[in-house]
Amino acid sequence: MSEIPIIWILGGPGCGKGTQCAKIVEKYGFTHLSSGDLLRNEVASGSDKGRKLQEIMSTGGLVSNDEVLSLLNDAITRSKGVSKGFLIDGYPREKNQGVEFEIRVAPADLALYFECSEDTMVQRIMARAAASAVKREDDNEKTIRARLQTFRQNTNAILELYDAKTLTINAERDVDDIFLEVIQAIDCVLKKKQQKAAAQC
Ligand code: AP5
Repeated sequence: MSEIPIIWILGGPGCGKGTQCAKIVEKYGFTHLSSGDLLRNEVASGSDKGRKLQEIMSTGGLVSNDEVLSLLNDAITRSKGVSKGFLIDGYPREKNQGVEFEIRVAPADLALYFECSEDTMVQRIMARAAASAVKREDDNEKTIRARLQTFRQNTNAILELYDAKTLTINAERDVDDIFLEVIQAIDCVLKKKQQKAAAQC
């Protein structure tokens, strides 16, 4: 795993994590694993587990890390050997998730934190909900407020612990301007990895 990049994508609800991940996938061909999408897939399966996950997600709280990390780990294992890099979107959401990921999966090379005001995040989610044919269950004002509170409670501890590998990016700009900064950070990680591999030859 150490030869390909593992990048955590951090930021509050609606800050633009998924939007930037789509652009990264297009440019670099990395494997995009969104913890929220993996959980929603489980919910859509209609399983008992999915029903329990839905209850938690509709309150804006955090699902247990055992559930999330095992979904992520399974998805990573399926792509190992063929992936050019992993984008772990919406993870870690609290400090211990990061610690457990690095023990059970692999160290992250970089964390990109998309910083955005709460007002902007709410506006973006409400606009997304209004424009989409299938509205997400948690995209209502009450749950958005709860998601923001969960985010507020946990984020500083993550940023403190992973300060050395985190790049904070102002996400209140045009999508393409944000992406230019993302490219610089990822190119830097790829260059370091190439240099390390060359030194080992
Ligand atoms: P998750 O699915 O991860 O949702 P989220 O973090 O709330 O984020 P969103 O997917 O709503 O937004 P986004 O940041 O991807 O923004 P987007 O690019 O779509 O998590 C859902 C739930 O699952 C959690 O609440 C929790 O219960 C559970 N969960 C997930 N991970 C977990 C974990 N690790 N542990 C425990 N539980 C977990 O953009 C939003 C809108 O803005 C779009 O319409 C977009 O077009 C627009 N937009 C984006 N960028 C810009 C820009 N620069 N300018 C203008 N508009 C923009």
